[in-house]
Amino acid sequence: MKSAIKLLMIFSVAGFVLASCEGPTGPPGKDANSSCLKCHNTTKTDAIEEAFDVSAHYEGNPRTGKYCARCHTNEGFKEITSKPWATGALISTTNDVNNATRMACATCHKHSSFEFAEDTITQVLRTTAPVSLAYNNYSNPTDFGKINNLCATCHQIRGARYIAYSDATPPTGGPVTNKAFAELPYFPLDNSKEATTVKYTVGTSFSIHDGNQSNLFAGLNGYEYAGKTYTRTWKHSENSCTDCHMNEYDPTTGTGGHTFKVNTAKCTECHSGSNKITPVQSLIDAKIIELAELLVTRKVFKKTTGSSGVSYSAVPSHDFYGTLFPAVSSATKYATAIPATNTVSATTGLVVYGNTVTWAVDADYALRIGREWKYGELGAAYNYGYINSELSKGVHNPTYALQLLQNSIDWLKSN
Ligand code: HEC
Ligand code: HEC
Ligand code: HEC
Ligand code: HEC
Ligand code: HEC
Ligand code: HEC
Repeated sequence: MKSAIKLLMIFSVAGFVLASCEGPTGPPGKDANSSCLKCHNTTKTDAIEEAFDVSAHYEGNPRTGKYCARCHTNEGFKEITSKPWATGALISTTNDVNNATRMACATCHKHSSFEFAEDTITQVLRTTAPVSLAYNNYSNPTDFGKINNLCATCHQIRGARYIAYSDATPPTGGPVTNKAFAELPYFPLDNSKEATTVKYTVGTSFSIHDGNQSNLFAGLNGYEYAGKTYTRTWKHSENSCTDCHMNEYDPTTGTGGHTFKVNTAKCTECHSGSNKITPVQSLIDAKIIELAELLVTRKVFKKTTGSSGVSYSAVPSHDFYGTLFPAVSSATKYATAIPATNTVSATTGLVVYGNTVTWAVDADYALRIGREWKYGELGAAYNYGYINSELSKGVHNPTYALQLLQNSIDWLKSN
């Protein structure tokens, strides 16, 4: 791959001068050999490019859809980071970014200055600003620490997508026209409501997507049961994401540096030959399954065995309009699903996102709980997703991960 960092070197050999015209040595008071060539040199750049070529950031498919491009493309990330951190501005790109490309050097890098007196690295990162999390409806920025903020802009719980819906055969009295597609952060997760119940309707999702590493690392945004104490920090809380994911580059294993894959050989140095990863993940895995099985027993979850193994998913208690699904067979039709019915506008050529309500006899009655969910059941189901989708399987904060799972298990056993 080719990058601007290398082109600069071609320019500088050819006598490239900076805007202030003080010649090939760089800005006033700067010695380009020491300050610029520290990064802009062939040996370093070649190694970085070689490493980056195996990173999922470069290998991954660009997802150009309006609700994906902000984290999955170069152009989408540039668009959302150029907007102010105002409420709502960060949910998505303005439209699908049809010609968007996968992540590249300039996705994460941009010079904020050519003065390198201190903190060299953050001066060449596109953003290090505290992050207005989707979980918090893009308000109240959370500071994960400078470089971590770059990662957390994408590696966070994914928020809501604004989805309109239509209904060809609305129920008597008409549909509830102001009913939003309830996704995080609009889904209520508030432990002061723990004594109440909640409808888990079709068209509701508390899915957090694959990327909530920052939230777990900081010990935030799990469902925390009322009256319980949670520990947010652990041994490696003071570390940055990059301390582990950009540790010493090893070309043989394709880990470390700009591969963003942990060079685990470096972990064993302090951990008396163990990398600590396997024992933590086995413990957490067993707790995840224990929790999921308890939720299946209550009919909050269903268990599916497919070609890729066993999976668990939440079963709605109510239809799209909030009518309780009976737990027995019935000839009545319910608003059972809201499949996507996106169209392309003939005038703009842009995708218009939409859903249509499906009315059908309910085939899944045997799996239904037949009542509203207890609030603690909602919290437990959410915590299952929070840890199960996080991908490090607890390594990013073993203490908090275990507390979330164990408190969920304990609550289910005693309520
Ligand atoms: C800490 C490492 C680092 C140092 C030091 C550094 N650069 Fe860069 N520079 C980068 C990176 C990373 C990029 C982005 C690469 C890309 O766009 O592909 C970049 C890009 C550039 C670009 C392209 C335009 C831009 O802003 O993205 C110019 C011009 C540039 N650097 C000039 C300089 C000069 C002049 C100096 C010395 C005063 C310097 N750089 C010092 C890392 C550095
Ligand atoms: C522009 C959004 C964005 C930023 C910024 C970002 N990531 Fe990612 N990251 C992603 C996406 C999307 C994937 C998954 C790519 C795929 O598989 O298609 C990913 C994948 C990864 C992976 C998977 C392992 C692999 O093979 O690369 C790790 C680890 C990772 N990122 C760590 C980081 C760290 C650490 C930072 C901050 C220094 C960071 N990411 C910054 C979006 C981002
Ligand atoms: C808030 C940022 C964010 C948004 C928005 C987002 N993703 Fe992701 N996604 C990530 C991150 C970060 C990862 C990487 C986690 C990992 O794989 O390690 C990821 C991973 C994935 C993966 C698994 C890895 C792969 O590439 O195969 C899929 C599939 C995916 N995303 C699809 C989507 C789709 C489809 C959308 C839009 C509907 C979307 N994502 C929106 C951040 C985001
Ligand atoms: C996902 C975000 C991301 C992408 C993409 C990325 N970098 Fe970086 N880069 C970083 C971070 C974070 C650091 C700081 C690493 C640290 O703290 O050790 C960094 C550091 C650097 C440095 C200074 C490091 C040093 O060793 O002195 C250079 C030079 C650099 N990157 C060049 C590149 C080039 C060239 C590319 C494309 C091939 C690239 N980066 C792609 C995030 C990224
Ligand atoms: C103490 C070291 C450490 C720190 C700090 C750390 N991670 Fe990780 N991370 C790991 C390990 C170990 C794994 C799981 C094993 C692996 O994938 O190498 C992992 C897994 C991941 C994955 C999933 C990779 C995959 O291929 O599925 C992503 C994405 C990720 N981390 C991102 C981050 C982000 C973002 C941060 C900062 C908020 C961070 N990590 C902080 C050690 C760390
Ligand atoms: C500079 C020394 C040092 C390095 C390097 C280091 N660790 Fe640690 N780590 C510690 C110490 C000290 C503890 C706390 C005592 C213990 O659990 O062994 C700890 C604890 C942990 C724990 C918690 C264990 C538990 O059972 O709760 C995990 C997980 C972990 N480290 C993962 C990693 C990973 C992954 C790496 C490599 C990316 C790494 N560590 C590199 C010093 C280090």
